[in-house]
Amino acid sequence: ADPMVVVNGVLDRLRSEPGALLPILHEVQDALGHIPGEVVPVIAEALNLSRAEVHGVVTYYHHFRSQPPGRHVVQVCRAEACQSCGADELLAGAETVLGCKAHATRPDGMVSLEPVYCLGMCAMSPAIMVDDKPRGRVTLDDLRRLEAQWKE
Ligand code: FES
Repeated sequence: ADPMVVVNGVLDRLRSEPGALLPILHEVQDALGHIPGEVVPVIAEALNLSRAEVHGVVTYYHHFRSQPPGRHVVQVCRAEACQSCGADELLAGAETVLGCKAHATRPDGMVSLEPVYCLGMCAMSPAIMVDDKPRGRVTLDDLRRLEAQWKE
């Protein structure tokens, strides 16, 4: 999709709502996978904000990506229930197993690793989301298997 067409469509629908910035950014990212730099001034102008304000919001919330994600996205929950079931170790282990730092994309573009806060699967801690599919009681072996599958 052409980013400008997507953004203009979203702006037409949402720009006059109060507090429109966050919903607009969510929709743009859902449609494009990230928030390309070139759309920031367009959104800023439509909402009467400065570019710096919009850019600040995009970088403040880890949910928003300024760069396209890898072919796969692994989100590791770091909220309370998962923390108490080893989420920190899981995230550290995921960095090693996936060869990718948290908040980053592996140099070959295979995977992005994103810490997130509560996937709504607290009873199945530690929980992760892989390409929008939730998985519970995750172990490092699960991540090793996933990573091996992607190579096939
Ligand atoms: Fe991890 Fe809720 S705390 S899913």
